[in-house]
Amino acid sequence: MKGLILSGGKGTRLYPLTYTSAKQLIPVANKPVLFRVIEAIRDAGIEDIGIVVGDTAPEIKAAAGDGKRWGVRITYLQQDKPLGLAHAVKIAREFLGNERFVMFLGDNVIQGGISPLIRQFAQSEHNSQIVLKRVAEPQHYGVAELENGRIIRLVEKPREPKSDLALVGVYMFDHTIFEAVDAIAPSWRGELEITDAIQWLVTHGRRVYPYVHEGWWIDTGKPIDMLAANSLVLDELEPRVEGHVDTDSRLEGKVIVEKGAEIINSRVRGPAIIGETTRIVNSYVGPFTSIYHHVVVQDSELEHCIVLEHSKIIDIPHRLEDSLIGRHAEITRSPIKPKAYKLTLGDHSRVGIL
Ligand code: G1P
Repeated sequence: MKGLILSGGKGTRLYPLTYTSAKQLIPVANKPVLFRVIEAIRDAGIEDIGIVVGDTAPEIKAAAGDGKRWGVRITYLQQDKPLGLAHAVKIAREFLGNERFVMFLGDNVIQGGISPLIRQFAQSEHNSQIVLKRVAEPQHYGVAELENGRIIRLVEKPREPKSDLALVGVYMFDHTIFEAVDAIAPSWRGELEITDAIQWLVTHGRRVYPYVHEGWWIDTGKPIDMLAANSLVLDELEPRVEGHVDTDSRLEGKVIVEKGAEIINSRVRGPAIIGETTRIVNSYVGPFTSIYHHVVVQDSELEHCIVLEHSKIIDIPHRLEDSLIGRHAEITRSPIKPKAYKLTLGDHSRVGIL
């Protein structure tokens, strides 16, 4: 069995962070979402992984490399235009050959427990298995209609959904999918939809089985989704302290302090993770916060935030909450008169002031 990860797309809803890096590389609990996907596939016993890349190919390749670090082999497959998930399957045809495969969207975060399902599919006679999840707003997803546990219809982003079962970005196929992706036509959004290809399999009597996932699942398209995924993953981590916590500091609940990090005269209330070589000084870090490597937080308070590498948050008079701070960002006081907000923001930045 092989793995296929789709890691193209511009990530426009995550601007400005995604101007400079691929959305799949934004860390959740200090690990890029893409790496979590690679690990889930590896944990299912798969060693051959193809990653479909688009405009952000250089960053993805630089970050994931040849896969040795996970004990897998990664092959990169270039998709020149974002023509849809089924189009990505077409591109990957040569790489996949006749093997069964699991396809994962590289920006989805799903609670553990999927790896055994993939192993089962590897041994099964099914042509395809799809993962579904009950959601509050199914109209934003591919939606499946079931009858007596069997799939009767699949519709991509229906205006009036017939069920609340969304297609999660994890799909398992055998070679019959190639016939399906060749047979379908582009949708109204100009994409070859994998949902339509699976519908083709159903219509043509192929064995497509649904699996309803009970754990959580987040499609990390927007900042609010990133923060939600971050909170859920943080809550599942085991606490550990590999850095230095001075005697004036207090860690409460599940806190991870990575190598070389320093917590000085501060309080960190978990679940939270403090990245390598990051310094937290005279500060409060509240629950559901991930601070990546080489960050400085000094004389400040933050909670329910993601802070990326090499940023500085210094001497902020009010607590930062629900924030996603990019790389090399600086939030400091500006003592120089006249007293004013002094901002240098990238395009599409959003600042909420008091
Ligand atoms: C894609 C699929 C959709 C699926 C969703 C999961 O949507 O087309 O069927 O439910 O991923 O994240 P897109 O992200 O392209 O809008």
